[in-house]
Amino acid sequence: MLSYRHAYHAGNHADVLKHLTLLAILQQLRIKDKPFVGIDSHSGNGFYNLGSEPAKKTGEAAQGFLRLWQQREKFRGTDLVGDYLNLVAGFNPVDTGASIGNYPGSPAIMQSQLREDDQLILMELHSTEIDHLRDNFKRDSRISMHHRDGFEGAVALTPPMPRRGLLLMDPAYENKADYQQAIKTVQAVHRRWPTGIIALWYPMLGQSRDLSGLVKQKLGNVADSVSIELTVAPQSDEFGMHGSGMLILNPPWQLAERVNAALKKVGPLLQV
Ligand SMILES: C[S@@+](CC[C@H](N)C(=O)[O-])C[C@H]1O[C@@H](n2cnc3c(N)ncnc32)[C@H](O)[C@@H]1O
Repeated sequence: MLSYRHAYHAGNHADVLKHLTLLAILQQLRIKDKPFVGIDSHSGNGFYNLGSEPAKKTGEAAQGFLRLWQQREKFRGTDLVGDYLNLVAGFNPVDTGASIGNYPGSPAIMQSQLREDDQLILMELHSTEIDHLRDNFKRDSRISMHHRDGFEGAVALTPPMPRRGLLLMDPAYENKADYQQAIKTVQAVHRRWPTGIIALWYPMLGQSRDLSGLVKQKLGNVADSVSIELTVAPQSDEFGMHGSGMLILNPPWQLAERVNAALKKVGPLLQV
């Protein structure tokens, strides 16, 4: 039974970390004049409204992306933060001030960076989310969509052709088994696709539930890898998710430096 809905969490601090990192990887893939394949194993529906009832109910976007959005003039420029804010602005042609209508999920961020010969493979298991995803991306012939288990699909669909590209794995971690499955899947995909960039998102939780150390221990030495983390509060069992991380195998050159420079600017705004 899948109960997680990203609409309640879109634009939170974890999305800021994940989407900054994703954009930085895609920008680096675009530098070479050679096509790439993007794979998103846990896609969600692709677009979110940060003014919607689910977003307002949790308030996570208000404590997350909307704090950056309210100060977007300060970040105007050509670095990664400026690019991220420009990207979101592109989905909101009418300036609504401090609030915002559309926020792109990872499929929309990936689509925005595709060139004519690049491809995108999207997977989503939830039956309502896959319907929205299909509606949102059906007009783009570079994109294929699969209603299937993203862990199984990530292994089955790699290595892609061409072999240049990125797998983003962003599970909901609804139960502890998801951690083992994510670790095993990353290991299996890396064996099949040793040159692929693999980016796995993981949450950082209170002491009694935190498994981020396990993820780093099992995957940190599988290949050339890096972990990029953002915390917004001290670790505590009362608080829930106080931060999150992206573990990246085969990171593009200077990825961590670029993303960490961006986090240095936006991290202080996201503190609880
Ligand atoms: C954190 S959300 C994805 C958010 C998205 N990557 C983004 O950044 O916009 C996780 C998604 O995975 C879906 N999901 C859960 N288990 C799955 C599985 N085994 N295979 C594929 N999708 C799954 C959920 O329905 C949910 O939409």
